[in-house]
Amino acid sequence: MFPTSAVKRQPSLIFIRYASACKAIVQNSFGPSSVLEVVDDYKVEEPKKKEVLVEVYGSSVNPLDCQQREGFGKRFFEVTTGQKATFPICPGCEFSGKVLKAGPNSSFKVGDRVFGASLAGRSWAERICINDGTVALAPKTIPLEVAGTFPKVAISVSGFLKAANLHSDNCRDKRVFINGGSGGIGTFTIQLLKSYGAKEIAVTCGPDNVELCSELGAHTVINYKKEDFREVLRDFDVYLDCINSNDEDRRSGYGVLRKGGHYLTLVFPWIGNTDESGLLWGTLRAISWLARMKRDASKNFGLKFDPCVGMPDQKFLVETATLIDAGKMRSVVSQNFSLEDMKMAHDIIDSGRAKGKLNVILKKEEDFMVENVEG
Ligand SMILES: NC(=O)c1ccc[n+]([C@@H]2O[C@H](COP(=O)([O-])OP(=O)(O)OC[C@H]3O[C@@H](n4cnc5c(N)ncnc54)[C@H](OP(=O)(O)O)[C@@H]3O)[C@@H](O)[C@H]2O)c1
Repeated sequence: MFPTSAVKRQPSLIFIRYASACKAIVQNSFGPSSVLEVVDDYKVEEPKKKEVLVEVYGSSVNPLDCQQREGFGKRFFEVTTGQKATFPICPGCEFSGKVLKAGPNSSFKVGDRVFGASLAGRSWAERICINDGTVALAPKTIPLEVAGTFPKVAISVSGFLKAANLHSDNCRDKRVFINGGSGGIGTFTIQLLKSYGAKEIAVTCGPDNVELCSELGAHTVINYKKEDFREVLRDFDVYLDCINSNDEDRRSGYGVLRKGGHYLTLVFPWIGNTDESGLLWGTLRAISWLARMKRDASKNFGLKFDPCVGMPDQKFLVETATLIDAGKMRSVVSQNFSLEDMKMAHDIIDSGRAKGKLNVILKKEEDFMVENVEG
């Protein structure tokens, strides 16, 4: 995850990358939300090659941010992002903003409105220097301070679509169940599946979010405080699990699917296993868990079982921006925060009760006007 003062990664005697200081959230240890602090001297590098330096307008807080704040997946993200997590760490895995400078090989230009995901953190700073392969042009019809709530969820849902082999051309006869419809992933996925014309979208959520899920496009909304979805839903093609279920919880939901249906979970033990056992043994443990779950689902229930992993996906960011600009998807922001109230946002995510997205605003796009947008 999240390397910080990128300056530390460039100790070369013959080439020192210029870095400038800005305001940011950093942490100097792993732990509860109280480890987060606001500083004014966070160093951000100048872009080289295919990198862009972005002035950040918006971001948000995701469950992964809170888990990483406590040290979750340190080794895993170091290996997968190729960046060492050394304190002080600047977290934050998504952003939107304007390109301030572009490396010589970047496909973006100064002034471009962009949004992107950064699994290596660093988004909760006034500026981020990042490879432009994880960035796309932001939606034209929403201000930048809101656009930063989409990228992380978008790449996660892209992982789900790939694992489930779902796309806009094959959804019309699909019945999809989302366990956990009112969070960041759920509210995005309902809208996406609606835009793909899915035959049925059923979700679970708490009593306060039933109206929201229906209004976003869910055909069946089950208030989990009143009803058990296992008793009312049958013959679904796809089950997206957004809830931190254990294996028994997962198996107890298999009856929702038709024979040959596909169960996909966003919550699985690979990263946790690598924390406990190191990358090699952790990965082997996760593979062995997956093989067992797949075998059980197939042999005993006639189902497919797969995890979904969100990886950077520029193409899907472009699709997301297109859907937003076509009015087929909107942001579901329940609360706005500044860098200064980041701890409050973390506490809400930690409580497991976040509704839609928690937006973090660093700067407002004062001159934003939909009428002025070209195309
Ligand atoms: N594998 C990956 O690449 C990946 C990527 C992104 C996310 N994830 C994981 O996916 C999960 C969902 O992410 P998210 O961003 O949607 O989280 P989130 O925004 O924090 O979602 C919280 C939501 O969960 C709902 N919820 C809690 N208990 C529930 C229950 N028993 N039944 C139904 N809904 C329940 C709450 O709804 P109510 O208040 O209405 O109860 C709340 O709206 C997280 O565990 C996250 O770590 C994995």
